[in-house]
Amino acid sequence: MSAKNNSNYESLLYKADNSVIKAAAAVVDTYRLQYHFMPQAYWMNDPNGLVYWSGYYHVFYQHHPYSPDWGPMHWGHARTKDFINWEHLPIALAPSEDYDADGCFSGSAVVEDGVLHLFYTGYRIIDGQPVQVQCRATSSDGIHFVKDPHNPLISTYPPDGSADFRDPKVWRHDDLWFMIVGSGKDGRGKVLLYKSSDLSQWHYVGVAAESDGTQGTIWECPDIFPLGSKHVLVVSPIGAERRRVIYFVGEMDYESGKFTAEYFKKLDYGPDFYAPQTFFGADRRILLAWMDSWEANIASKKDNWAGALTLPRELAMDRNGRLRIHPLPGLKELRKERVSAANVLLENNQRVFGLCDLQKIGLEVILHADLVGTTASDFGIVFADTRNSQQITVGFKGNCGKLYLDIENAGLGNKGIFWAELLPQQEKLDIRIFLDRSSIEVFADNGAASMTARIYPRSHKLVPQLFAVDGKLTTSIELWSLAK
Ligand code: FRU
Repeated sequence: MSAKNNSNYESLLYKADNSVIKAAAAVVDTYRLQYHFMPQAYWMNDPNGLVYWSGYYHVFYQHHPYSPDWGPMHWGHARTKDFINWEHLPIALAPSEDYDADGCFSGSAVVEDGVLHLFYTGYRIIDGQPVQVQCRATSSDGIHFVKDPHNPLISTYPPDGSADFRDPKVWRHDDLWFMIVGSGKDGRGKVLLYKSSDLSQWHYVGVAAESDGTQGTIWECPDIFPLGSKHVLVVSPIGAERRRVIYFVGEMDYESGKFTAEYFKKLDYGPDFYAPQTFFGADRRILLAWMDSWEANIASKKDNWAGALTLPRELAMDRNGRLRIHPLPGLKELRKERVSAANVLLENNQRVFGLCDLQKIGLEVILHADLVGTTASDFGIVFADTRNSQQITVGFKGNCGKLYLDIENAGLGNKGIFWAELLPQQEKLDIRIFLDRSSIEVFADNGAASMTARIYPRSHKLVPQLFAVDGKLTTSIELWSLAK
């Protein structure tokens, strides 16, 4: 649909004009997201079974289809060709057998000989104790799934692990299949490695990687994949600082079954990014994560839904062995109207860029700051409501080289200021921001850092304002209204 013919867009990004700002009323209708994946109703958490098959990206997810709270886990299912338009499909897995009586927990998918194989953790409670086993279900049409009569394929954890034994991730390397399962023992998160020649019989290899004692006591949702000339290990730790997802860059030795890390970092610096999973799509490594957290107070529960996925992100390894995370290029299809300004010069002041209504559109903002011409100790963009009582700020403090997301006064939901250290000594800094009705995602410094948060603004009528504190800011800015 062209921007002109769609009356919704015509007055969405106004030119800077205070009269428009004053006229705006603060009404919040809903937190339903406009261009992110969410369940049709009720609860979701982790993305599961991500796979590209027959022209579709299939996305499964942890789903409780009877309430907006976590409960016996099912695998919800949807598919998409572009990550913008989604087709919801019937629930793929539901608790039905002794071994998964209390839930079908997270896992992954592979395709072999035209058959889609889902690997998941069967969960049940016996005498008050959780029992977790690894299972498979298959499908030849990608819609109806049959659980393997030999389930569970892995019926107990090895001595290196513990009863926390879940989230199988399966992939092929040369002629063999490998599976890692998340676990933990003696206060250390662990990744347990298995191998198989037929996807049915699995042989335990050993501990592929474990926490150094500070990186979490249980590692959930492990993922190992090649990227450039390296391998990357991603884990979602319990028992580490606010369960922040971490990744390790290193080498995977398939002979010894050991992953050796060169360094590790946080994968995202915001509060609402957990249990990511990656897969190789049509031509690149794609990551999706649950855009919420176990700690979050999810305001949309009152409307009978909870949980969403992040935007799809492309992972790449740069020449210096650093991970770069970018929103998928295809998301540019969402762009409708643009407001932009080149060579903006601010000195200890602010400049307003119109008004946008997140009830009607999404918003993408791109800043290219020239750090040579910038002396401000703090600069960025603030999205304030028309009375300036609610603020979402994305900024950069030059003296410490830190990007921040301030949602202390962003309405209901999470509070706090979240920080990411960027590489120092840059001449330019790019910051790209995606706002939806109840989410914000920030990508900065050519994909070196991302920050993801759920926000529940009281008013969706936001006034984007560039700001510079204690000095000058030279930048360009582009604002796009986003819609399907
Ligand atoms: C991660 C997780 C997984 C588990 C699933 C249960 O968020 O705890 O380890 O399989 O959620 O829903």
